[in-house]
Amino acid sequence: MTLAEYLAGQQRRIDAALGHWVPSESTPPKSIHKAMRYSLFAGGKRIRPILCIAAAEAVSDSPDGIEPAACTLELIHTYSLIHDDLPALDNDDLRRGVPTCHKVFGDAMAILAGDALLTLAFQVLAQMECVPERKALLVAELAVAAGTVDGMIGGQVNDIEGEGKHPTAALLYAIHHAKTGALLKGSLRMGGIYAGCDDEQLRALSNYGEHVGLAFQIVDDVLDVEQPSETLGKTAGKDAQQKKITFPAVYGVERSREMAEEERIAAHLALRSFDERAERLRELADLIVQRKA
Ligand code: IPE
Ligand code: IPE
Ligand code: MG
Ligand code: MG
Ligand code: MG
Repeated sequence: MTLAEYLAGQQRRIDAALGHWVPSESTPPKSIHKAMRYSLFAGGKRIRPILCIAAAEAVSDSPDGIEPAACTLELIHTYSLIHDDLPALDNDDLRRGVPTCHKVFGDAMAILAGDALLTLAFQVLAQMECVPERKALLVAELAVAAGTVDGMIGGQVNDIEGEGKHPTAALLYAIHHAKTGALLKGSLRMGGIYAGCDDEQLRALSNYGEHVGLAFQIVDDVLDVEQPSETLGKTAGKDAQQKKITFPAVYGVERSREMAEEERIAAHLALRSFDERAERLRELADLIVQRKA
């Protein structure tokens, strides 16, 4: 199976599970479920759930029933995007190639849709079938990855407070590791934990996750400079406009690309103790650096 076929298959699997867990548009109150589904099914690469599944596959031959756990990463991620786009944060009009949630449903409903996706993620973890001890670990992983201490929210705080500040390397790394890296690393760890990995495997997956997480946001920053809005499905040139602390702002585009490549190589190295079952993870590290959107 080619990587493209693998990705398409996983995306279908993840979307089917999301469709099952997210209430239908006809469920009252209809407006919130419409807003949740609008953002969730507008597109999106599903890279976090795919990393989660690929990590589980690197550890175990058949990590059956992992879809709900993988979905929770997409629920949290989509909530973070809806809130990231709000006028009080990045104030964006375009997301996943369509108008942002608040542009269509208004600020109040967009805030609530984000809250609802966040809440649903933990409901799914609580209700899914899983070895009980592993379930508690997964809940903690997701909460920490999305949280305030080196997690997604903490990173968003530093990103917002960093606007217009002198961009130092230390602040840049702190922002990127947390706002994006934490959830990506969490995706790998959750996949490993679900599949029953040992401590050494968990360390290796975390290490890989740190490197692909950083690479992912370096590339996001570079694409914001290099690609048009039509390709990105979100507003291009937004970071410079808002004086964000980004890799191109600190190092320039060319050096940023080299740094993403260094992270890709480090991600491969982190997987050296894994056999061919980690091949998808290796391909995903390459994809994360080579992607155009
Ligand atoms: C965009 O994430 C926001 C970042 C954390 C950089 P993605 O590039 O994964 O966005 P989707 O899910 O494919 O829309
Ligand atoms: C967002 O970073 C990270 C999140 C936690 C959502 P960005 O602000 O760079 O994401 P985009 O470029 O709007 O997707
Ligand atoms: Mg932002
Ligand atoms: Mg943004
Ligand atoms: Mg960005």
